[in-house]
Amino acid sequence: MSTIDYSDKIPNNVNLSEDRTLQRALEQWQPNYLQWWDDMGPDGSQNFDVYLRTAISVDPQGWAQFGHVKMPDYRWGIFLNPAEKDRKIHFGDHKGEAAWQDVPGEHRANLRRIIVTQGDTEPASVEQQRHLGLTCPSQYDLRNLFQVNVEEGRHLWAMVYLLHKYFGRDGREEGEALLERRSGNEDNPRILQAFNEKTPDWLSFFMFTYFTDRDGKFQLCALAESSFDPLARTTKFMLTEEAHHMFVGESGVSRVIQRTCQAMNELKTDDPARLRAAGVIDLPTIQRYLNFHFSVTIDLFGADQSSNAAIFYSTGLKGRFEEGKRNDDHVLKGQTYRVLEVHNGQIVEKDVPMLNALNEVLRDDYIADSRAGVERWNKVIEKAGIPFRLTTPHKAFHRNIGALAGVKVAPDGRPVSEAEWAANVDRWLPTDEDRAYVASLMGRVVEPGRFANWIAPPVMGINRQPVDFEYVRFN
Ligand SMILES: [Fe+2]
Ligand SMILES: [Fe+2]
Repeated sequence: MSTIDYSDKIPNNVNLSEDRTLQRALEQWQPNYLQWWDDMGPDGSQNFDVYLRTAISVDPQGWAQFGHVKMPDYRWGIFLNPAEKDRKIHFGDHKGEAAWQDVPGEHRANLRRIIVTQGDTEPASVEQQRHLGLTCPSQYDLRNLFQVNVEEGRHLWAMVYLLHKYFGRDGREEGEALLERRSGNEDNPRILQAFNEKTPDWLSFFMFTYFTDRDGKFQLCALAESSFDPLARTTKFMLTEEAHHMFVGESGVSRVIQRTCQAMNELKTDDPARLRAAGVIDLPTIQRYLNFHFSVTIDLFGADQSSNAAIFYSTGLKGRFEEGKRNDDHVLKGQTYRVLEVHNGQIVEKDVPMLNALNEVLRDDYIADSRAGVERWNKVIEKAGIPFRLTTPHKAFHRNIGALAGVKVAPDGRPVSEAEWAANVDRWLPTDEDRAYVASLMGRVVEPGRFANWIAPPVMGINRQPVDFEYVRFN
């Protein structure tokens, strides 16, 4: 079970060859996927040999293998964590019953929607990032970008497998639609707004992989609890890959900060204009990017009160983050949770039924996890002896979904008037000028071991290779 069969056209550990109909359906989808990769995958890089990790097993020890591969030849496949014997549903109204190996008819529509929504984010991020290779700050970073991209492609495979295997014709149609929507396209956009935003530069990319891939982690963790066992097993293995994406984001931003602090100390200044003249990204600009990506990402968790969230939980489709580690009844009826609301221009707390507030519960868990990494960034600034702190904005800041949408709130959580917002928004969110400046830094650095001026080299290379290893052969 833990070893992956690579002799099949589609690598898998689900005995695909024993299910001829499914195998044929997926083999028909495969060329369409490759066509999508060709059209929308990393721009101008199909012929590069990239030092990629490929899953070869789902054994936590030694699950991946590294080697130079052309991305279109990457062995995208279907890998599920091993089944847990006699797994039981451990939350919601069906608690204690056997986990489902098939989709119960009454939950079919909701499960399909959950899987499609998750699946849609995977190709979306590849589309958002497709031009970044042209302006990479180093070979090391270029390789990491491509690694993230091929794995998001594999995550799409993971969801399409579930759609094909368990949802019949509807599932196959959804599989096609996942290749047809396009990030940012007016007529046929991706489902969630954060996945229609642009990722125009590498600071955005690092913020995106730090904040938005972390949303992925929390969604996948919630789905890894699902009563629908194949979904739980698929998402568990996706989480193994996801950890690297967040590492790319956290270490990327950290290296940008490190380089900026170095320049601040050399020039003995915190003047953004002088730092920009020196070609580094000033800390207030980094804070504005952080504010943007944080606020756009927390919208992804949905409305703070949602009857769908209650249904998804009670029916056992989607659990909470670390459901198994919580000490409550895992049914949550009669319990309450605090959400924020706006009353006469003031933000007030309000107790609501917890089941309806489960989006907010997941969002709050996400926020706590996000803050931990921001504190690690602050350590870099502190170590450089610079009196500046990055902060995550208040969760009511710059929101577009739920009760907080439409109210103007400062990053510190103070409700402000339209006029005050307009007078200050340039200090709170990236301006066109910020974005133009960051864009002006983006040049292509590809000699092994060389790094763009605005970012520090990493401490270590990938898979114990040296930092100046030839991670990408351009051919
Ligand atoms: Fe993903
Ligand atoms: Fe990811």
